[in-house]
Amino acid sequence: MNPTKRRTVIAGNWKMNFTPAEATAFINEVKPLVAGKDNCDVIFCAPYVTIAAAQEAAKGSNIKIGAENVHFAEKGAYTGEVSAQMLTACGVEYVIIGHSERRQYFGETDETVNLRTKAALAAGMKVILCLGEVKEQRLSGITDEVVAMQTKLDLLGVTADQMKNVIIAYEPVWAIGTGLTATPEQAEETCGVIRKTLAALYGEEVAEATTIQYGGSMNEKNAGELLAKPNVDGGLIGGASLVAEKFKAIVDAAQ
Ligand code: PGA
Repeated sequence: MNPTKRRTVIAGNWKMNFTPAEATAFINEVKPLVAGKDNCDVIFCAPYVTIAAAQEAAKGSNIKIGAENVHFAEKGAYTGEVSAQMLTACGVEYVIIGHSERRQYFGETDETVNLRTKAALAAGMKVILCLGEVKEQRLSGITDEVVAMQTKLDLLGVTADQMKNVIIAYEPVWAIGTGLTATPEQAEETCGVIRKTLAALYGEEVAEATTIQYGGSMNEKNAGELLAKPNVDGGLIGGASLVAEKFKAIVDAAQ
């Protein structure tokens, strides 16, 4: 973390978990545990049908509720999709885009991730843009090239001014939901590569101001070490965001 330069953001990604009633119960449980922890932003990204219940429960607290994806069109014949205009009309400010599960199971590519990112930003949303290498890429020693290229492709056409609404989540695919975590050194190094790529695209000032999270089996035990690294500005948390005490411990580590 480097709180003098940029905001630390701890975001939960609930994935396909929690009914509205479960979300209400969870937010009510976690709310007092993270109250007053002002050194980081606290966000939970929820399934579409759970957002309203989570927002209601989070009212008056420091918790913000986001979505887990967004389509790039404003409206039209896209069965099953939700637009940025619909999300903002529901008071949703944050959205995850490009999560590896979307890329892996639902055919999303850097091109569609880029379209979604531009649509969300144009609608005034804040984007948590996910990228990261798969295991074979890390083992082949091409992680730096892969994340640099993803950064460039996913942000194609995004302006320097819009970057104030972009958070990048570096998520090595081999670490997501596997219990394997990047070492703090690996996380620091690759977040550094992303920051260097941002500097080449947008200049030092934008690069230094952009929050870059680590994600991939971040939990209550390893969060402290990861967040201690100067280029790791927070976490995108899956499994541990479903357990109030674990999530609280990660928020504590960010204080
Ligand atoms: P995990 O998920 O913390 O369960 O590994 C992280 C993510 O998918 O964002």
